[in-house]
Amino acid sequence: MSDIEKIEKEALKAISGVGDLAALDEVRVAELGKKGRVSGLMKTLGKMSNEERQEMGPKLNALKQRVADAVEARKAVLEDEALEARLATEKVDLSLPARPEPKGALHPVMQVFEEIAAIFGDMGFSVAEGPDIEDDWHNFTALNFPEGHPARETHDTFFFSPQGEEAAKVLRTHTSPVQIRTMMAGEPPIRIIAPGRVYRNDWDATHTPMFHQVEGLVIESGIHMGHLKGCLIDFVKAFFEVDAVEARLRPHFFPFTEPSAEMDVKYTRDGDTIKIGDGEQWMEILGCGMVHPNVLKNCGIDPEVYQGFAFGMGVDRLAMLKYGMPDLRPYFEADPAWTRHYGFKPWLTPSVSGGLS
Ligand code: DAH
Repeated sequence: MSDIEKIEKEALKAISGVGDLAALDEVRVAELGKKGRVSGLMKTLGKMSNEERQEMGPKLNALKQRVADAVEARKAVLEDEALEARLATEKVDLSLPARPEPKGALHPVMQVFEEIAAIFGDMGFSVAEGPDIEDDWHNFTALNFPEGHPARETHDTFFFSPQGEEAAKVLRTHTSPVQIRTMMAGEPPIRIIAPGRVYRNDWDATHTPMFHQVEGLVIESGIHMGHLKGCLIDFVKAFFEVDAVEARLRPHFFPFTEPSAEMDVKYTRDGDTIKIGDGEQWMEILGCGMVHPNVLKNCGIDPEVYQGFAFGMGVDRLAMLKYGMPDLRPYFEADPAWTRHYGFKPWLTPSVSGGLS
């Protein structure tokens, strides 16, 4: 057997015998590397006569090519095998339960925010937002609170230190400034709710300096009190998950609505639990009204063309009523035992069709 045949036979055998890429590379270096056997044979060409070289050159080149091809082919096979092996070890068994069991729970206020968004989302409302630090104009003036009007005082406002000539910024006392921001930024028809934190300098059994509201605003042409009442009764029924609710609108005053009302619903108390819908007593659950023409004008909307209604509700109290939490203060104490007891699974997104709570 010639050297060529011998080397080829041995090399191909070695190549097909290796089990991994590192071993394959050793074989490659031993045959085709600078000091390898095939390269050694190639070097002998230089010392050959012309006739010998003409005969041996093509043969040696062909040898080199076949060995190189065999290395490449084996490499492809080994790479495939390595990938298969890796995929097999990285397999995830999707039928296994998630671990560890999550310990966190969604705070009832956040749950109620989501429930309210789901209900109004179903009625075609979208969610709008505004900043917690507001300027006096958005929080009061544009909402038709005249300068020096006593209604400003009833809000127990937290003021920032004034900066230069401008009126001091405030921590927003309600979510109503989001009405202004929404009307300034877009055109009717408008149908939004605005959930968020609000702040007032008040601290007792039923008041905390930070609490949560959801604002609602609808601006279209031809909107009247009937729309307001129908919309809010539908909301209350969906929120408290009852078929019928006895509700009334009781005249009230807010600077930014005219007429203004508070909405009461009938309820029954059975020990610690409260059942909303019917009963002997009325409970106030939100403020509402037709958007005041001055507010529309302040936002560049013609009150002769467009009308609208607005409402605002305290979410902390709605959560207390729905989920039977007797006291407001633990809401903000961040006690994990309380949150575990009253909290919700974070991934159970409420929906009108799939269930709210
Ligand atoms: N902003 C009022 C408050 O915090 C609540 C409110 C009442 C909002 C009537 C409204 C509304 O949009 O129409 O006391």
